[in-house]
Amino acid sequence: MTRWLVTGGAGFIGSNFVRLLLRERPDATVVNLDALTYAGNLENLRDVEQDLRYRFVRGDIADPLAWEAAALQGGGFDVLVHFAAETHVDRSIGDPFPFLRTNVLGTQAMLDFARRNGIARFVQVGTDEVYGTLGPDEPSFRTDSPILPNSPYAASKASADLLVRAAARTHGLEAVITRCSNNYGPFQFPEKFLPLMITNAMSDQSLPVYGDGMQVRDWLHVDDHNRAILAAAERGRPGGVYNIGGHDGERPNLVLLKELLAILGKPESLIRHVEDRKGHDRRYSIDASVARAELGWAPQVRLEDGLRATVEWYKSNEGWWRRVKSGAYREYYETMYSGRLRDAEGRR
Ligand code: NAD
Ligand code: DAU
Repeated sequence: MTRWLVTGGAGFIGSNFVRLLLRERPDATVVNLDALTYAGNLENLRDVEQDLRYRFVRGDIADPLAWEAAALQGGGFDVLVHFAAETHVDRSIGDPFPFLRTNVLGTQAMLDFARRNGIARFVQVGTDEVYGTLGPDEPSFRTDSPILPNSPYAASKASADLLVRAAARTHGLEAVITRCSNNYGPFQFPEKFLPLMITNAMSDQSLPVYGDGMQVRDWLHVDDHNRAILAAAERGRPGGVYNIGGHDGERPNLVLLKELLAILGKPESLIRHVEDRKGHDRRYSIDASVARAELGWAPQVRLEDGLRATVEWYKSNEGWWRRVKSGAYREYYETMYSGRLRDAEGRR
């Protein structure tokens, strides 16, 4: 049996990871420690909440009481996969402080927790944004590219990566860092580009494109990202850094949006160019050769197929995203978790 602690498992990537782990590793038990910020939604995990191998603990990673609750639930952990973060670049430009608290102090707290509890493996789920931005003809980000973050979000994630590196060097913590490009797929919060565009287009609302829309992102399906995280947790070299992405997903935002509208059968007249994001990174591009060579990982989902499947998912799960957009999703925890399904310690 392998005992996993996942932080931020009620968010987009973390919830897909919990589902993947329970499906692909029958010997896994999982505790999901999540504060349920606006981005956390337990409806994302509705299909696994009755699985006896899964436990949810509501708590802030920067709060020692939350660690104790998680430790009580898990009875010890072998692996910690650290997803929990403030993740939206635009919010970090408006107010960086929650990003520093969760992404920097919270990561240090989780590193201390791992060390004190003898956790064998620590996976830091990082981002390609720590490398900054690329010109149109520059080579893709390598794991030894300079760390040059441009937004408060990216700077907070770069700081977190450096703290992970320091814990590995100072205390011998077996840590690995993954740095992935832009993810898409089911359960993504509709403030991010793709779910915002899909759900607005489905409602015949305008589609706000920042600036000229020619910023390039390197899109990867969330399941491909999560398969890489699983491989890094199980086979990663202690101290290793793995870039994830670099499949067939590099596109300017406007080109991607037009592909999406064609799939949805919606008109391009919905597109509205709006004021650009401050300090907007122009291009991300990933060289994942280290992950391919050392982890034996390879992406499986072509962007064209993944986009179609994602559009289908948002069409079939209109109730999910409408509850998120209206704010009704916030009630799920109160009705399902505080008292009715579990007691105060989270037991059923
Ligand atoms: P998300 O915003 O959808 O979810 C974040 C989750 O963390 C939420 O469930 C939230 O409640 C939880 N959380 C936030 N602050 C917390 C705190 N203080 N204590 C406990 N839980 C807290 O994020 P996501 O898009 O799923 O990203 C997950 C991780 O992957 C992040 O570390 C992010 O930096 C990284 N990442 C994301 C992408 C992407 O394209 N979305 C790409 C590369 C890396
Ligand atoms: O590269 C990995 C990163 O990808 C993750 O670390 C971040 O957590 C994640 O949010 C994402 O960051 P981006 O800033 O690239 O993603 P976002 O979805 O916010 O924007 C994608 C692109 O679309 C970016 O160039 C900005 C643009 N955009 C975004 C929004 C929300 C628009 O043009 N209009 C919009 O309304």
